[in-house]
Amino acid sequence: MQTLQALKKRRSVRTFNAKPVPRNLVEELIDCARLAPTARNIQPWEFVVITKKDTLQKLGSLADNGSFIKDSNCCIAVCCQETKYYLEDGCAATENILISAYDLGLSSCWVAGDKKPYADKVRELLGMPSDFKLVSLIPLGYSDAKPSLLSKKSLNDVIHWERYVLEKT
Ligand SMILES: Cc1cc2nc3c(=O)[nH]c(=O)nc-3n(C[C@H](O)[C@H](O)[C@H](O)COP(=O)(O)O)c2cc1C
Repeated sequence: MQTLQALKKRRSVRTFNAKPVPRNLVEELIDCARLAPTARNIQPWEFVVITKKDTLQKLGSLADNGSFIKDSNCCIAVCCQETKYYLEDGCAATENILISAYDLGLSSCWVAGDKKPYADKVRELLGMPSDFKLVSLIPLGYSDAKPSLLSKKSLNDVIHWERYVLEKT
């Protein structure tokens, strides 16, 4: 699959079927994540892969907007040591996982971490060191769902050549 196609076709999917995610695909996703751009090449990230059903259920109950984590067979927690640009670095790694998952035929959804009140509880549940921040949770799996077609801003709505223009014709 071409990179542009994956970027344009990926959508968040929140329902998963029972088919397990092969370990080698999870490793491929994290291999892509670890190669993301990172400020000063610090690479502050670590990735916790959760496959145990009881932990997935606990994550689903902690994450108020991510209860569907309990229905996944695999969830990757992206965490970063608290460096100056940890959030940008962790988000770049998260996006690499979403795009490479789509490329490998897997469905996924970014579930918020860093700004959520449950972030510390997730960190404790997963045994992350106290100087690490939870950036995102990414439930993954195979899905029969057809993701809804969200309306997206058009290219013309968001592009500004040379200077920001308030009113566009
Ligand atoms: C920082 C961030 C946090 C998000 N957190 C959640 C979340 O907690 N729960 C959820 O269902 N989706 C979450 N999403 C997914 C967005 O809802 C989704 O990307 C958006 O609606 C656009 O849909 P699309 O991914 O299909 O293009 C999050 C996305 C981002 C970038």
